[in-house]
Amino acid sequence: MTAALPPPSGKKRLFLRSWGCQMNVYDSARMADVLAPLGYAPVDAPEGADMIILNTCHIREKATEKLFSELGRLRQLKQAKQAEGGEMVLAVAGCVAQAEGAEITARAPYVDIVLGPQSYHRLPEMVARAGRTGRAVVETDFPVEEKFDFLPEISAPQGITAFLTIQEGCDKFCSFCVVPYTRGAEYSRGPAAVLAEARKLVGQGAREITLLGQNVNAYHGEGEDGREWGLARLLYALAEIPGLDRLRYTTSHPRDMDEALIAAHRDIPAVMPFLHLPVQSGSDRVLEAMNRGHTADDYLRLVDRLRAARPDLALSTDIIAGHPGETEADHEATMALIRRVGFAQAFSFKYSPRPGTPAAGAPHRVDEATKDRRLQEVQALLRDQQAEFNASLTGQTVPVLFTGAGRQAGQLSGRTPWLQPVHLPGPLSLIGATAPVFIRAGNPNSLAGELAHQEKTAA
Ligand code: SAH
Ligand code: SF4
Ligand code: F3S
Repeated sequence: MTAALPPPSGKKRLFLRSWGCQMNVYDSARMADVLAPLGYAPVDAPEGADMIILNTCHIREKATEKLFSELGRLRQLKQAKQAEGGEMVLAVAGCVAQAEGAEITARAPYVDIVLGPQSYHRLPEMVARAGRTGRAVVETDFPVEEKFDFLPEISAPQGITAFLTIQEGCDKFCSFCVVPYTRGAEYSRGPAAVLAEARKLVGQGAREITLLGQNVNAYHGEGEDGREWGLARLLYALAEIPGLDRLRYTTSHPRDMDEALIAAHRDIPAVMPFLHLPVQSGSDRVLEAMNRGHTADDYLRLVDRLRAARPDLALSTDIIAGHPGETEADHEATMALIRRVGFAQAFSFKYSPRPGTPAAGAPHRVDEATKDRRLQEVQALLRDQQAEFNASLTGQTVPVLFTGAGRQAGQLSGRTPWLQPVHLPGPLSLIGATAPVFIRAGNPNSLAGELAHQEKTAA
């Protein structure tokens, strides 16, 4: 492990570790913002930290066990600090905290704070309470006030590509999923707050913003005129911000992909031609059991409409192999849907039962060996599709946003409109700019290129 970066003198050291989705990464940054006025500054290793926050994910199995083994290690660091007369505040945040609050304090009594994702704005008060009482402070309610109204403005810059949470929670209750229980009911931030934060990010150097939400396209923020804004309207407004070159959003639900949003893909150049649109299964029986609210054909027709609006649109998806009740024919239907769509990228998972969700108690469980085999088949197909998509760019010239230095000296890295990483020789002065890049090789996981018009790229 690397040596802890010393915080600015007089500051307390805060070590934050995140698992799970991008929203956790975003939340971790916000927790750092909330704690900054209390004198905490982030460090990059847990040794000697004054406060450690583990921001956890509960989406699939083993998360809880991983957390407890991590806590076991941190307990030793805490004891070492105490032996030297110091103190370490140990906090567990995120979706495991929300789901297993009581179990955490019972099994790991040395944890000082357990807080669910909706309570981050209360952290300073909880730190004070933990210090006063010496007992664990647990906050896993869904407070009546919304955390975004109480969090301070973002402070630490995120870089060229930034994330911005606009929506949280989910009311869809898919059979397999814990999110509605850990993140609570759907909530959208107002467009004024979102636009202000986006301007601030751009002021800090961001050129690409990815809007985040568990159900981001269900966005329905209340405007200052009292009227609701959908995601499409928000994208049009964001696209007006000078210096904001690229917009993305994730994760979308097929049911909330409305006409206005499809038109936004056609009409707003800054909206990138890449969409993560989880389908989970290609079988209508399984989609029904999953409570997804759409059929395979609905999904395919939606893809056709999106591609008609934006012909260069590439798609990414999530697939679950082995949901209870999934037969061989259902699995074949999933394979057929994947072949039909042709995904540029995808995430696929073996179904894992989550306590408290409807599918966890459902009959006709698929045995592990079958789940494994189906997942492998799905992954092999998706891997081939990704390799094929990347290879299809060989010989083309595409706009690349330069995001940082490459691994080797004299190298730049960037990303295409379709989110593929690109490595190329080039000057660091180009970081933050977008320029045409000739793709020499479309490898399975990244692209290699060179600047297409050396003389034009300095702009
Ligand atoms: N809101 C997103 C998904 C969030 S969870 C959506 O509606 O698509 C991210 C992905 O994890 C899901 O798309 C799903 O593929 C996977 N996932 C969620 N719960 C799971 C479970 N119990 N077992 C396996 N995979 C799961
Ligand atoms: Fe989970 Fe379904 Fe909500 Fe996505 S839409 S977060 S999968 S319940
Ligand atoms: Fe995980 Fe919670 Fe995100 S369960 S995927 S951290 S919403």
